[in-house]
Amino acid sequence: MKKTSSKVEEFIRVDHAGERGAVKIYEGQLLALNTLVKNEDLKKTIEEMKVHEMEHCQFFEKEIKKRNIKPTKFLPLWDLLGVGLGFGSTLLGKKGAMLCTASVEEVIDKHYLNQINQLGSEEKELKKKITKFREDELHHKDIAYEKGASKKGFYSILDKIIKTGSKIAINISEKV
Ligand SMILES: [Fe+2]
Ligand SMILES: [Fe+2]
Repeated sequence: MKKTSSKVEEFIRVDHAGERGAVKIYEGQLLALNTLVKNEDLKKTIEEMKVHEMEHCQFFEKEIKKRNIKPTKFLPLWDLLGVGLGFGSTLLGKKGAMLCTASVEEVIDKHYLNQINQLGSEEKELKKKITKFREDELHHKDIAYEKGASKKGFYSILDKIIKTGSKIAINISEKV
C-alpha cells in the first residue's frame, strides 16, 4: 500500500474520533433509557442506529492500525462528553434525544461530503466507505426528524450548541 498522505491521515483520525463519539452518544442515551426515561420505541430506534455507528467506528479503528495513524489524544474527553451529551439530551425526552442525532448528523453530512470531494482515485476504497457512511448518517438524520426531533424555541439553542461543540471537536481531532 502507498504511504498515507498527511491529509488522509487527518481524515481518518477525525472520522475515527467522530464515529466513536457517535457510539458514546448512543451509549449515554441508552443509559438514560435504561434508568430514568421509559420509552421502548425510542430505545429500539437508538439501538439500531448504534449498530451502524459501531460498524463505522470499527472500520476507522482498523484503518488507524493498518496505516499506523495516531488516534486523537482527546478520545477520553470525547468519550466523557459523548456519554454526557447522550444522557443529558435524552433526559429532555424524545425531542431532545432526536434533536441530538439530527444536529450531529447535519454536521457530519457536511464533514463527510467535504472529505469525499477531496479524495481522489488513490484512495478509492476509503472514498467508497465514507460515501456509504454518509448515506447511513443521512438516513439517521431522517429517522431523527420522523421520530420527533424539534428545532423550535429552546431546542434551536440546543441545536446550535451541539453543532458548535461538534465542529470544535472535529477541528481538534484532525490535528491532535
Ligand atoms: Fe456513523
Ligand atoms: Fe449516524
